[in-house]
Amino acid sequence: MTIQVSENRSHLNEFENIFSESSTSNKRDSRMNVLITGGTGYIGSHICSVLMDEFKNTTIIDNLSNSKMKTIHNLKKISKNPINFIAGDVRDTNLVYKTIKENKINHVIHLAGLKSVSNSTEFPIEYYDNNVSGTISLLQAMNLANVKSLVFSSSATVYGAPQYLPLDEAHPTAAINPYGRSKLHIEEILRDTAHSNPDWRIACLRYFNPVGSHESGIIGDEPNGTPQNLMPYLAQVAAGMRPELNIYGNDYNTTDGTGVRDYIHIMDLAEGHIAALDFLAAQASFHTFNLGTGRGYSVLELLNCFEIACGKTIPHRFLARRPGDVAECYAATEKAKTHLGWHPKRSLEEMCESSWNFQKMLENPRN
Ligand code: WQD
Repeated sequence: MTIQVSENRSHLNEFENIFSESSTSNKRDSRMNVLITGGTGYIGSHICSVLMDEFKNTTIIDNLSNSKMKTIHNLKKISKNPINFIAGDVRDTNLVYKTIKENKINHVIHLAGLKSVSNSTEFPIEYYDNNVSGTISLLQAMNLANVKSLVFSSSATVYGAPQYLPLDEAHPTAAINPYGRSKLHIEEILRDTAHSNPDWRIACLRYFNPVGSHESGIIGDEPNGTPQNLMPYLAQVAAGMRPELNIYGNDYNTTDGTGVRDYIHIMDLAEGHIAALDFLAAQASFHTFNLGTGRGYSVLELLNCFEIACGKTIPHRFLARRPGDVAECYAATEKAKTHLGWHPKRSLEEMCESSWNFQKMLENPRN
């Protein structure tokens, strides 16, 4: 078994105490064959860009319901290592089992699912079927194949309205929409699964607000239709695709009245998944980790930063608050730093610059 030595060596002692009997070297186990469900989506494709560099065998299963086949071609432009792609749905248990066996999968990163908060309120049954039933199907296939190492794409939405800030992993969970509740139900299913058999190794990563793009500008956040999230909407206003940004609420009890969020660079988030795989290689049972920066920025602060990155003024107007939005949300980051030996490194400026770089590439693709 291996552990990833924490960059900040002051934690090494802690690692040595926890894992001293197991660590033979801090060289990662190169025999990791990873299956990533939902790997052609915005977050999944960026995780793949890192997996492909770290491991020789990465396999994606994705039903392409909210992504495009071109992502596979783009990933092949980014990494020289191969990538296997299976078009399919995680609810097809037999297909997942066959994919695991044929590709000798020994670790799974699970992102496949629906992720729009507003849509989940309108179509809750689809959200529970895709997200919860899809996870149960995946677990059945993994169990049958005796593969019990799983990193799950969870969300800060499971915390609901913050009772205190920053949000640590011990904060009460109380999702306030079907999307968040589906993530919470899945976490509980994973917790019960891990407690049923000591062989299970499960890490739930609670994402804050992932933004930005791969430095190549070849992959990025390209939502279908009107972007629901702030950063892709900003980029489309800057590109002249939309007349102005609607800012939902400027009467919150925050520095400038607009909503505050913990934006984290998508590549930092992707690297956090590799750190979680290394952690699970040496630590069984069930774990939850925040993936955030611990720093909140308001909508206006992000807008100002984006204006500097793109060199343009972003027209905007203030509208009423968006139902379900909270005033402030940002992460406590100590647990991931201590136990995963991971911390985000990229700045808000890099998040904005990479988003704008991707948007420009969309307008003027290189070959
Ligand atoms: C950020 C801020 C808006 C759009 C969502 C999901 C969450 C997670 C991250 C998956 C808020 C404001 C936004 C716009 C605006 N995804 N805003 N105008 O809502 O914090 O979180 O993405 O796990 O589950 O809920 O992100 O980018 O939508 O909003 O003023 O056009 O920007 O009010 O304050 P959010 P967001």
